Amino acid sequence: MGFLQKDKQKEDDSTDYIAATNTDVNSPLRQIAATKKKRYGAAVDGEFLFKEKDYADLIARECSIVTPNGELKWNATEPQPGKFTFESADAIANFCQKNNIALHGHTLFWHMGNPDWLPYPPTLEMIQRHVTGVMGHYRNSPVLKSWDIANEIIADNENETDDPTYGLRRGVKPELIRDLFKFAASVDPTKKFYLNDYGIEGATWRSSRFLKMVEYLKNSGAKIDGAGIQSHLWFSTAYGFDATGFSSVLKRLNDLGVKPVITELDIIIDTPLPDSIQKLDQMVADGYKRFLDICFAADVDTVITWGITDRHTWIRHPDWMPKKTYRDNPSVWQFLRPLPFDENLQPKLARNAIAQAFMQAP
Ligand code: XIL
Repeated sequence: MGFLQKDKQKEDDSTDYIAATNTDVNSPLRQIAATKKKRYGAAVDGEFLFKEKDYADLIARECSIVTPNGELKWNATEPQPGKFTFESADAIANFCQKNNIALHGHTLFWHMGNPDWLPYPPTLEMIQRHVTGVMGHYRNSPVLKSWDIANEIIADNENETDDPTYGLRRGVKPELIRDLFKFAASVDPTKKFYLNDYGIEGATWRSSRFLKMVEYLKNSGAKIDGAGIQSHLWFSTAYGFDATGFSSVLKRLNDLGVKPVITELDIIIDTPLPDSIQKLDQMVADGYKRFLDICFAADVDTVITWGITDRHTWIRHPDWMPKKTYRDNPSVWQFLRPLPFDENLQPKLARNAIAQAFMQAP
């Protein structure tokens, strides 16, 4: 699985590989994934992880990798200039260590999740202090294996950038991102480095700019190991994916030697809504299967969903739910069922679809 150095890999995944010999669709997803030398994981929320035992048990059973929902964002780790706090992120790291789960570091640079004192983009000096503090803290972590070095640097659309080539958010220069990646490599080159973004699951304005930025980083000699493809998929609106375009994005990344990784997958069904939850769950499941089949055909080996249960999905928050369908019509909020397990932590059709996709992967 390319991600971990050879002998390390054995030690990290030995439990899964032993158990993986005899799996069926109801086996833990981490074991089913391991039969194909792949990983399944989810974003976790520390607030609930240490309050809800059933939720923690489910994460431990199903996941071989987790991403902290917010605990490694700038506002959590450096709330005051130069004052670092790792209490909540370390609690997740300890949970991972106890349960033999890898931790994905999300994220060192973003335009959101920042303390009020921080400008966007931050100065290179602020970035260096932050990267030194945060990456330095996890340099010797036995579980943290990868970092989203930068998140969502591409503008939301072409009207919001002054940079036709790379389409970066206003004020962000490609050189700043290059310097961030280079500085990160000087702090801890032992981890995998990703550039992470959304809306690149097809031949879109964003995906073409994202690929240009990946090429630029490679050509400037920066260390970039992976491309995080968030995959918050809104079916039947602008966020849906086109299979052909997405396959060519994956191929281009593989050709560049930058591993595509699915980092934040969830599936939201937008208008028109079906007339029953059962039909909706089937649509979500079909979405997972179609999407993952394309990923696995391109040799993707890590799939992380943004949460594991509809009980704790970011998309049920009014700030994030799709506007027309849900915010304007709150009576349909129960159709927000983007994840593999329901509110009661019961497996949904989507969970079955993910298991099938792993089992059928080449
Ligand atoms: C989201 C969290 O899930 C929310 O709880 C938080 O309020 C906002 O951020 N893309 C990302 C993630 O890279 O960090 C976002 O997470 C979801 C979109």
